[in-house]
Amino acid sequence: MAGQIVEQQIEKIYQEALSQVQTSSQVDQVQSLMVQYLGRKGMVTQFLRNVSRLPAEQRPQAGKRANDVKKVLEEAFQKRLQEIEGSQIAEDTGIDVSLPGRATFRGSVHPITQITRRISDIFSRMGFDIAEGPEVELDHYNFECLNIPKNHPARDMQDTFYVSESIVLRTHTSPIQVRYMEKHAPPIHIIAPGKVYRCDSDITHTPMFHQVEGLVVGDGITFGDLKGILTAFVHQMFDTQTSLRFRPSFFPFTEPSAEVDILCVMCRGKGCRVCKQTGWLEVLGSGMVHPAVFENVGYDTSRYSGFAFGMGVERIAMLKFGIDDIRKYYENDIRFLKQF
Ligand code: DAH
Repeated sequence: MAGQIVEQQIEKIYQEALSQVQTSSQVDQVQSLMVQYLGRKGMVTQFLRNVSRLPAEQRPQAGKRANDVKKVLEEAFQKRLQEIEGSQIAEDTGIDVSLPGRATFRGSVHPITQITRRISDIFSRMGFDIAEGPEVELDHYNFECLNIPKNHPARDMQDTFYVSESIVLRTHTSPIQVRYMEKHAPPIHIIAPGKVYRCDSDITHTPMFHQVEGLVVGDGITFGDLKGILTAFVHQMFDTQTSLRFRPSFFPFTEPSAEVDILCVMCRGKGCRVCKQTGWLEVLGSGMVHPAVFENVGYDTSRYSGFAFGMGVERIAMLKFGIDDIRKYYENDIRFLKQF
């Protein structure tokens, strides 16, 4: 019975203090409430002091409750003081500083950048360095040094953006191979990510897109090394169930050349719309570096051999994220970009 009375006492003090603080509108009102309740002779303080006089079995409960009340009231007083100050400033300046701030919109890394970083990570861990080159490129590097003759279809005005007769927007990242070899002696193991440009636009082509080039040169580099590196890459990029298929192909700067398909990541080889019922998806071009390219950079072709490859980042991103229209990546629709 006595315990209940004690309890009622502290609850009463608590409720009164709360309702008084809510209705006070001046700083000095709140300050005097603080003295009245929490000051040296304040009601909560007094109560706490008297706890020691209570019967032993009531002390812990009453002490704890009084301490909680003290804490909550301290916070309530502080909060009210801030509110009053805020509304004072609002009155003076017309700005309500007590309003919560507007949440800032946080951006995210573009899916193409994410995939480029992932590709770079995988190759970096295998010991590759990262190289770069200019997007506005000399015809000399974009075509000539890569053994692409003047009459090659890739040079067609319909494919290439010409800046002048001898300057183009690079149509692939392969010129970086040549620029790098001019400055470095073997052994070389680089990848070169970057933007490339072609006059082309439909659901699988945009006039600007991204590639990652790869180049390895050294003593006794073989096609087996090419297969090993690309297999390790695909297994890390997708998974170890994703097998690879090398198909003979042609590129002027590699001999022999191969296009690489991976087992369709959607249907696992059964045949679907994405792989056009073939069960395979083409993901990159590759081959052994053509001796003519080595000669253009002054490498000893009797000593060195190497392989190169080039892949489209959008293509890998489309497969990885299951997006079938490449243009979505460039429409800047926040609802699309937010999902990655
Ligand atoms: N540059 C080629 C393209 O854009 C891709 C390519 C194929 C790059 C074979 C290479 C390679 O390095 O060896 O279509």
